[in-house]
Amino acid sequence: MTTRAASNNRQIHVRNAEASEIDLLARIWSDGWRDAHSGIVPEELERARTLESFRERLEKLISTVRVVGPSGAPVGFHIVKDDELYQLYVAADARGSGVAAALVADAEKQIAEMGFKTAWLACAIGNDRAARFYEKCGWVRAGNMINVLEIPSGQFRLEVWRYEKPVAHS
Ligand SMILES: CC(C)(COP(=O)(O)OP(=O)(O)OC[C@H]1O[C@@H](n2cnc3c(N)ncnc32)[C@H](O)[C@@H]1OP(=O)(O)O)[C@@H](O)C(=O)NCCC(=O)NCCS
Repeated sequence: MTTRAASNNRQIHVRNAEASEIDLLARIWSDGWRDAHSGIVPEELERARTLESFRERLEKLISTVRVVGPSGAPVGFHIVKDDELYQLYVAADARGSGVAAALVADAEKQIAEMGFKTAWLACAIGNDRAARFYEKCGWVRAGNMINVLEIPSGQFRLEVWRYEKPVAHS
């Protein structure tokens, strides 16, 4: 399955990730996570989110990862879990380029095709760039919720902003 989204008069192609791209994707995830979360989440969570931890999670999830960028050089990715847009990360030099919008459109399409009417996602409280981006894409902040995150020592409960968007086919 491929999805193309128009941005700045060009088409942005979204494709399945390749297993050989795990290291590059782990770097995008790790760097992006730090850009977005340093200083706004508890230190215990920051310590748990090592490059290796992202790599291990990608190894398990690779069959569900969707990316933008040429083979062997992805610049951003998303992961959908049921009706949740579970992860969305774009490399710093690809931000503001329409890559993120193409990924979100692809994720919304995937969730709609599974039969869900509403998609949701969790955004760290204070991640203002992401919040602005989601709102630009038509997502609405539904309130706060407790997100239960997996960390090596068990589970970590983090209060987050919950965003939702209707995705059902008309
Ligand atoms: C979130 C992310 C995917 C959005 O993609 P992007 O390409 O940066 O998105 P855009 O540039 O299209 O939109 C971001 C908007 O936030 C604005 N913005 C930038 N910095 C901001 C800040 N500190 N506070 C508020 N808004 C900000 C931008 O100006 C832009 O709005 P505009 O188009 O009205 O000018 C990307 O920034 C990213 O990967 N960030 C790190 C990881 C992350 O936070 N992932 C989401 C986890 S929930």
